[in-house]
Amino acid sequence: MGNRATIGIIGCGHIARDMHFGNAFSNPRLRVKWCCDLLDENLAYAEKNYAPEKLTKDYMDVLNDPEVQGVMILTTHDVRLKLIEDAAARGKHIYAEKPMATDMREAYGIMKAVRQANVKLVVGFNRRCAPIVRDAMEILGRHRANPVTAPWRYKRREGGEQVMKESKATMVLMRINDDYMSFKSYAMDPYVGHGAVMGELCHFVDLACKIVGCEPVKVYAEGWARINQSMILQFEDQSICTIVDAAVGSFDHPKELIEIYHKGLSLQLDFYLQLRAGGIEGVQKIDYPFKEDMYPEITEGEGSMRLINKAAERNRRAARSAEAPYPVVDKGHYGLLDRFADCVLLGAESPCDELDGARATLVALKAVESARLGLPVKISVDEYDFVFREGLVC
Ligand SMILES: NC(=O)c1ccc[n+]([C@@H]2O[C@H](COP(=O)([O-])OP(=O)(O)OC[C@H]3O[C@@H](n4cnc5c(N)ncnc54)[C@H](O)[C@@H]3O)[C@@H](O)[C@H]2O)c1
Repeated sequence: MGNRATIGIIGCGHIARDMHFGNAFSNPRLRVKWCCDLLDENLAYAEKNYAPEKLTKDYMDVLNDPEVQGVMILTTHDVRLKLIEDAAARGKHIYAEKPMATDMREAYGIMKAVRQANVKLVVGFNRRCAPIVRDAMEILGRHRANPVTAPWRYKRREGGEQVMKESKATMVLMRINDDYMSFKSYAMDPYVGHGAVMGELCHFVDLACKIVGCEPVKVYAEGWARINQSMILQFEDQSICTIVDAAVGSFDHPKELIEIYHKGLSLQLDFYLQLRAGGIEGVQKIDYPFKEDMYPEITEGEGSMRLINKAAERNRRAARSAEAPYPVVDKGHYGLLDRFADCVLLGAESPCDELDGARATLVALKAVESARLGLPVKISVDEYDFVFREGLVC
């Protein structure tokens, strides 16, 4: 097996242009042989900017190439199942953008296809591989395994810690400041993008499951399937994650803030730029570089405050010219793709597999149901374990 995985990219639209082309073509462990799209303009863009060896409008050309070991499926989510089934049937490993599926039947079909063919599926929940999330998970994991109380912790009770069942839980808060004016029109189509709960909140549901580390059992959501929701997710161990998704916000300010609390540890993940830790010895603050910084002359402020200052400069330029991009933070796209290379080259485990994809789909569906009913909705063992874990006849 060579030291470069030969891959094809199927779907060369916005996310390919904004993120994956740059990452895939610059990764020394990947050889992007094919680019495939239905639209001439997208193929022309790929050819002009990245010069892949082969271009096609027919994805079967990519799948029938015996040199191709893996494919990136970057189409919109309404056309995923058939592509995944066809790729798996030809033994290709798959990186598929999120959400993996938009209903249970589709999720089941995808799980079955990849398991029967024994190929790896990496679902594009890239935040799992962001450097800040990786560090936070390491700190949390160390503290969980050995929850040492900081010597400065304020303790009113004499005679040691009062151990309560709920004191073992993890509490998570996720705030998303988004602007619906930036959304692509397919994302708001009820039968293509299925709205923000399915298309965007699936990222945060997946991340919450990864952080807490056990299964979600109940969801309560208020708001709309399309935009603007608050969601409370409860887990098997009584951990709770609250997700507030405001699509009526502004890119002038950082988009995401994640807070994690566990046994005297507090972690704040401030928009992939600064991790702040409290309640433990050793780490207090870690700063992360921008992935792309078009405003290097703006150095004032730390963490997300620097982003605010750079956004202000971006806005001054945008008022004069439409070509004023926002600075880009590292949300883990490159890291996840690199792990896909591990799957193809080394047979490594997928960092975000078909079960993770199916779980996020199921929770998103339940959240929509909850918002419409106005009631909390159980995520039942019957649907989850029976359909996804044990019901798969391979
Ligand atoms: N992980 C992230 O950060 C992130 C961000 C944005 C979008 N996404 C996901 O990426 C996916 C694509 O989003 P987008 O905004 O790039 O959409 P898009 O519509 O801009 O691009 C999709 C492309 O797929 C092509 N396509 C469709 N069917 C095809 C087929 N059979 N063969 C070849 N090409 C085909 C279309 O022609 C189109 O160019 C969505 O599912 C979205 O949820 C992920």
